[in-house]
Amino acid sequence: MSDRIIAPEQVQEDTVFDAALRPQRLSEFVGQDKIKSNMDIFIQAAKKRNEPIEHVLLYGPPGLGKTTLAHIIANEMNANIKITAGPAIERAGDLAAILTNLSEGDVLFIDEIHRMSKVIEEVLYPAMEDYALDIIVGKGSAARTLRLELPKFTVIGATTRYNMLSSPLRDRFGSTWRLDFYTQDDMQHIIRRSASVLSVGIDTEAAEEIALRARATPRIANRLIKRVRDFAQVRGDGHITHQLTQESLRLLDIDPLGLDEFDRRLLMAIIDTFQGGPVGLNSLAATLSEDMGTIEDIYEPFLMQLGFLERTPRGRMATQRAYDHLGIAVSASRQQSL
Ligand SMILES: Nc1ncnc2c1ncn2[C@@H]1O[C@H](COP(=O)(O)OP(=O)(O)OP(=O)(O)O)[C@@H](O)[C@H]1O
Ligand SMILES: [Mg+2]
Repeated sequence: MSDRIIAPEQVQEDTVFDAALRPQRLSEFVGQDKIKSNMDIFIQAAKKRNEPIEHVLLYGPPGLGKTTLAHIIANEMNANIKITAGPAIERAGDLAAILTNLSEGDVLFIDEIHRMSKVIEEVLYPAMEDYALDIIVGKGSAARTLRLELPKFTVIGATTRYNMLSSPLRDRFGSTWRLDFYTQDDMQHIIRRSASVLSVGIDTEAAEEIALRARATPRIANRLIKRVRDFAQVRGDGHITHQLTQESLRLLDIDPLGLDEFDRRLLMAIIDTFQGGPVGLNSLAATLSEDMGTIEDIYEPFLMQLGFLERTPRGRMATQRAYDHLGIAVSASRQQSL
């Protein structure tokens, strides 16, 4: 979507790096405490009963740790993880092949589960509910359904677009968790952890600075550390100081609060085109030539987290803070309604 360094989506360059920095155990996973403590109990209880854990659905904006958690759950259960994604399962037969290859206790991780077609979903329902696969054999009046038993397994679904999931699919999950943006403390913790995995020293102020600009998103924090580390090796002695961090982030043209081009366009559209709002999501989407769901699920959460955007019953509004950050004076009439 974007090649900016603060784009939260995964890019090719991240994959190797992500693997090195990705926590492997629940105890290494920073933040998301509610999810962690619940998972810990689910996992321990399931292990005691010697059963797979119930199906888990993870959702939230990109780069917050859904894939990481799925791997951790499998790890903690000592289970094999098989990985697929909604768009990769094209025909019912593809899913049948995956399901019949599972062993007892396996984790089936389905990324981008909102992109699975309805036909495939219907195959998944009995598999999740009854550990069974219904196959139709024969044609016309001779057609009958054969039921194949499957081993007990766990589906972990991940999505950035919870609203796009059909409600029957949502209902098949034993538990559903929304990953939240990380606090500044958690971000600093993640940054220090990553620096230590990479064996580079980092000053407290440098970690704070990176944490501020990383969009409350671990993936972006890791990407920034990588750049700052390179910079510190070339311009300094490799140790990440505050000054080197500031210089390097300035060179990378990173917004002090982590906003990207699209965030700015979105706010400017509300401010300029719609006089600060309220503006309906559909009008906003049309102005930005972007899909409503993407705006709602991917872009707005971070802007709301920053307190730059409000969702009101009459539509979206830009807040005073957004005006301040973008350096725009609020008109007198507008000021009254803020
Ligand atoms: N809680 C965490 N503690 C430490 N590091 C984390 C945490 N969450 C994520 N990370 C780091 O951020 C990287 C990105 O996380 P991950 O790939 O799990 O995000 P995601 O939610 O699956 O994103 P997407 O929606 O794009 O698939 C991971 O490789 C990992 O290094
Ligand atoms: Mg992922």
